Amino acid sequence: MRRRRPDALPDNIQIREAHSGEGKAFTDLAALAMEGHGDFDDREAMHEAIDEGGPFISRFGAGRIVFLVAEHTPTAGIVGISSTIPPLSVLAGMERNGADAVALGATAMAYVKLRALAVADDYRRQGIASALLTKALAIHRDHRAFLAYGQFTAGDAGLDRFYRRHGFTIHAPGEPVILPGNSRYPDVGASPLPGEQMFSRTI
Ligand SMILES: CC(C)(COP(=O)(O)OP(=O)(O)OC[C@H]1O[C@@H](n2cnc3c(N)ncnc32)[C@H](O)[C@@H]1OP(=O)(O)O)[C@@H](O)C(=O)NCCC(=O)NCCS
Repeated sequence: MRRRRPDALPDNIQIREAHSGEGKAFTDLAALAMEGHGDFDDREAMHEAIDEGGPFISRFGAGRIVFLVAEHTPTAGIVGISSTIPPLSVLAGMERNGADAVALGATAMAYVKLRALAVADDYRRQGIASALLTKALAIHRDHRAFLAYGQFTAGDAGLDRFYRRHGFTIHAPGEPVILPGNSRYPDVGASPLPGEQMFSRTI
């Protein structure tokens, strides 16, 4: 049986934040994770943001946007990417409902949405996505986020297993992730798109 070493990464792969000028390489790989996942497509904004250079904080004054890449050091090629963001669509809904700046800032800081995670075909099953995910969550934890969530195509057994192995709870299709509120703002739900299911974990 294959020995599972999810923490071991090949010596010639380095995980780091994306540099300005890498917007195209980044979004080309992000496309692998984003196609067929609804009409919302923020690849152009992602491309521009990366090329401008970081660090990135949401317009709510808190909440990191983290773009990580896996670089194959001998060729300087980008072979994996991860994009993790504050829950922007939930925040937009709260704003429409009249939430104040403090509630918006607290929500932007507390929650992380896994927006895109992808590894080039030839580099899969070597622990690269695992390393990207682990590093992204550690960065958000250092910035005081405490719950991460995302969504994938309902019934995808490979992704179900992947996220379970990383400590996530897989929600039933259609079931939202509840983002607990506070004294100033009620709980809000992040609902899956049709045909998708949510996963979440504390970090
Ligand atoms: C999902 C995806 C990102 C996984 O990338 P990856 O780099 O292959 O992932 P990892 O190597 O970290 O883990 C995947 C598998 O390799 C295994 N693995 C991890 N490290 C290993 C190692 N050192 N040696 C052997 N196997 C290893 C894991 O156990 C896992 O096995 P599984 O198939 O039983 O779950 C990749 O398949 C992809 O880009 N898919 C298309 C986009 C997509 O669907 N993204 C998710 C959007 S929610």
